[in-house]
Amino acid sequence: MCGIAGYTGEARALPVILESLYRLEYRGYDSAGIAVEEEGEFFLKKVKGKISRLEDALMETMVHGTSGIGHTRWATHGEPSKANAHPHFSEDKSLMLVHNGIIENHEQLRQKLTTNPEFKSQTDTEVLVHRLAENYEGDLTEALRLTLQEVEGSYAVAAMHLNEPGKLVAARSGSPLIIGCSGDGNYIASDLPALLDFTREVIFLDEDEIATLTPDEITVQTIQGEKRKKSINSISWDAVQAQKGGYKHFMLKEIAEQPQVLRQAMQGRVDGSRVVFPNLELDEEVLKNLKKLTLIACGTSHHACMVARYWLEEMTDLHVEVDIGSEYRYRSLNYDAGTEMLIAVSQSGETADTLAAMRKVSAQGVPVLTICNVLGSTMAREADDVIYTHAGPEIGVASTKSFTTQLLVLFLFSYFLGRLRGSYGEQPDLLEKLIELPDQVDSLIRDRSLYKKIAREQFKKEDFLFLGRHLNYPIAMEGALKLKEISYIHAEGYPAGEMKHGPIALIDEEIPVVVLGPTSRVYSKMLSNVEEVKARGGIVFGVSMVDDRSGLAEVCDYQIAIPQTAELLTPFLTTPPMQILSYELAVRRGCDVDQPRNLAKSVTVE
Ligand code: G6P
Repeated sequence: MCGIAGYTGEARALPVILESLYRLEYRGYDSAGIAVEEEGEFFLKKVKGKISRLEDALMETMVHGTSGIGHTRWATHGEPSKANAHPHFSEDKSLMLVHNGIIENHEQLRQKLTTNPEFKSQTDTEVLVHRLAENYEGDLTEALRLTLQEVEGSYAVAAMHLNEPGKLVAARSGSPLIIGCSGDGNYIASDLPALLDFTREVIFLDEDEIATLTPDEITVQTIQGEKRKKSINSISWDAVQAQKGGYKHFMLKEIAEQPQVLRQAMQGRVDGSRVVFPNLELDEEVLKNLKKLTLIACGTSHHACMVARYWLEEMTDLHVEVDIGSEYRYRSLNYDAGTEMLIAVSQSGETADTLAAMRKVSAQGVPVLTICNVLGSTMAREADDVIYTHAGPEIGVASTKSFTTQLLVLFLFSYFLGRLRGSYGEQPDLLEKLIELPDQVDSLIRDRSLYKKIAREQFKKEDFLFLGRHLNYPIAMEGALKLKEISYIHAEGYPAGEMKHGPIALIDEEIPVVVLGPTSRVYSKMLSNVEEVKARGGIVFGVSMVDDRSGLAEVCDYQIAIPQTAELLTPFLTTPPMQILSYELAVRRGCDVDQPRNLAKSVTVE
């Protein structure tokens, strides 16, 4: 989704903001723009398309100004175009503004305008800038505060006025925004990676807060005008982690990082046959009294929750429900705050639908735990407690290492809960096998030659089917999601048992079928499903264990072999083949793997 960057300090603002915008590219965008204050005017440049086009357009531009704002836009109101790109400006061009999110009452705000400005774009943002100009009486912070009191919707905004050189004003409500502080100046950004080249000292703005930045001061108040004292957080991620480090794509780097981040996510949490969460503050009594657990997420994170349901049902006596944020938030439900808990799972901790679902439940007094990756994210701050996945920055839009670390945390939490409630016995063997997983994942991802071969042969296909059962049914869905996200091949993930109720009608030699068949309680059922596909001329790629001698590997056209592990842990090993297969197919088709069309890394609007 859209990205905001801003800087005020001693250095030239243009290269700083451009660099930050590059770091926000992964969020997804279709146009970009920048405004820098330069000798009593604004230098403004906007382009449709990539930031590299913006950089080309800025070539040989010697803008020396030391404060400015920039933006990457992911179109909501109005097509992707230069006119609709941000920053937007007031009639006299004394005011510049960038905005993420949606102004829901933009039509009413337009009616409220007392001047008659000429609109130059189709965006909801432009109404905001004209209204802000009307409210301006010499103090930009105050004008923005008053204007935002009139706004309904979700937003993060940043603005500058020529009458107040060196001052940036930024606010958030529903969309993320953080402030960076350093001896060389102060920064605003939508996300941490945009700041890591410059500083690791950050302030997380809370909902409905406005920050005023000058080169050497940051003050924060609420939109209602109450002063706020904010603490500065030191972030341990460094800029190197957020760069490609010799890999062709971020996605490939992030696939390769999985052994290391799985180890990281296990660290301090597995102790012999015990699982511990040293920082978990949730009252043990609350966890012991639970009867129902609901897991909510979107996209890939939702698939992690689907896998977790099987673990939780196996290891605990709880009633477990899993839903998608955008569906759950509109359901009519009764809650029992004393016996229920919600787990919101999210890489970014900012996904609008998951956040809305979380707030809905929290308002009923139900405890909320979030499992997320981004430190200090909105979910992490609003939930009653948080377990971090420690995957480090994930830049590729298609989630990979975040997913496997979510799986890990959810597995550990299921085990922890089962032990705490006395519903699951100690399983030292299982935890030993868990500890082997990082090395096994490493062995899986080192050699991509089979996947390259498959990609060479299959890259022109327009449909794929992914089949799995039980724990590996969600992995089949994740395989299909990965493939459509980055290669634009239509793919469906299906519970194999449902084949006869429809999808089998699709089978012919044109549809590659990926079958997840590791040794498990449903192995023989999977074998029958493969036979059914083969009998109808289908091409089958079977993911099964290395010593699979019971038939599946033989019946399949290709075997993608995974190491031996416990049944409950198989999703950790069936996932990397899904990621690499999609990656190689997308590369072969010449797709933009890290920034697929129309997609955003962090979906902060409904
Ligand atoms: C977007 C991303 C997906 C991600 C989903 C949920 O659609 O492209 O990769 O799985 O949002 O994001 P979250 O940050 O909540 O896990």
